[in-house]
Amino acid sequence: MPPASRVEEVRSELDELAQAVSSAQELMQAMVKLLHGRMLKYNWVGFYMLEPGAQPPMLVLDAFEGAMTPHVRIPLNQGICGAAASSGQTVVVDDVSKDPRYLACSLETKSEIVVPLFAHGKVVGELDVDSHFAAAFTPEHQDLVQHCAMLVGKKLETSGH
Ligand code: SME
Repeated sequence: MPPASRVEEVRSELDELAQAVSSAQELMQAMVKLLHGRMLKYNWVGFYMLEPGAQPPMLVLDAFEGAMTPHVRIPLNQGICGAAASSGQTVVVDDVSKDPRYLACSLETKSEIVVPLFAHGKVVGELDVDSHFAAAFTPEHQDLVQHCAMLVGKKLETSGH
């Protein structure tokens, strides 16, 4: 059998983690640590959650690993983060300097992926990963980050935040 790729290894570790923890919060904390620690191009990894009942709707920073960001609260009409949450679609930006929606977190960031989290069919938050490398989020990585968002969404449905 060929040796497993880093992405495959991390994916199975995440699956085990999701089985082992008892809340979505615990999973999110452990997930950002694991992704940031093991995936060499994932230089900032964090969750934003939709504030319950907020009008206008607001994304609020939750578990994260990497440098503190100035963007702790993001309205849905701002940033790559706002675009992913309001459309319910994954957004991949290969070169953030070319995307007028981009809100800078670190001057070193070159590319970014934001994947919405769904619970009971509704967007409840998102997983955001920034890289110091351009075009870091190839289809293989999009798959991994989307898998992570799915695991957290399931946990939110079964165990709550
Ligand atoms: N770059 C994001 C803001 C969040 S920071 O990257 C952590 C955006 O454009 O929405």
